[in-house]
Amino acid sequence: MQSTISNPVRTATPQNMSFYQKWILPRLVDVAMRNRAATRYRSLIVPKARGTVLEIGVGSGLNLPFYGTGVEHLYGLDPSEELLAMAGKKARAIAFPIDFLAHASEEIPLDDSSVDTVVMTWTLCSVADPAKALKELRRVIKSGGTLLFVEHGLAPESRVQAWQQRLNPLWSKLTGGCNLNRKMDQLIRTAGFDLAELKTEYAEGPRPLTYMYSGQARPRLGQRFDVHSPI
Ligand SMILES: C[S@@+](CC[C@H](N)C(=O)[O-])C[C@H]1O[C@@H](n2cnc3c(N)ncnc32)[C@H](O)[C@@H]1O
Repeated sequence: MQSTISNPVRTATPQNMSFYQKWILPRLVDVAMRNRAATRYRSLIVPKARGTVLEIGVGSGLNLPFYGTGVEHLYGLDPSEELLAMAGKKARAIAFPIDFLAHASEEIPLDDSSVDTVVMTWTLCSVADPAKALKELRRVIKSGGTLLFVEHGLAPESRVQAWQQRLNPLWSKLTGGCNLNRKMDQLIRTAGFDLAELKTEYAEGPRPLTYMYSGQARPRLGQRFDVHSPI
């Protein structure tokens, strides 16, 4: 089947972006996210996606080759038009329909309970309001749906945590908003998901940058979502 790639439905790229943010950073993200450890996580997590899939922070599309035959339709959401253009080129080789959405995950332009699987790889670290984004995921995912994730975040050892807190302001500036100090499992649970599977470990590389949270979460049954209520 031919991939269908729609135009981004709305521009989310701020007009006041610097040259570095608009032109250099997307290329750095594309190169940095091709490393061996990331590729191994992609190969373990992404093939589990089924049905109608929403990938938030689709970036340059590095997960696209890892989706399996169970995917019927993919929405690839990212606020960066430059990264979406790179993903669009990779999508030509993909056999299921893809719509790219130039949006932030804090406001997802999809209906309630419309998605079977959400995929999130190294994205929650960069989202400006992670609690709001996760509530949006909770809203669009079906009650029997699955959130598949690989994220880096807050390490368990206080010595590593201290380095994460120290480095975070500079790191965040250099990387376009990535944070080293988010406790990913807690954020996911607080947004109304149960963790069906969670693996935490250090990947290759400097410890403050490489404490990984990977696994699967399901919407907590019986808990209503309300995007407007505080969590
Ligand atoms: C480190 S990159 C990871 C890209 C991709 N997920 C991957 O695995 O290669 C972080 C991504 O999050 C995206 N991002 C930043 N803020 C976002 C937001 N509010 N909503 C959705 N994506 C966002 C960035 O544009 C970038 O594509």
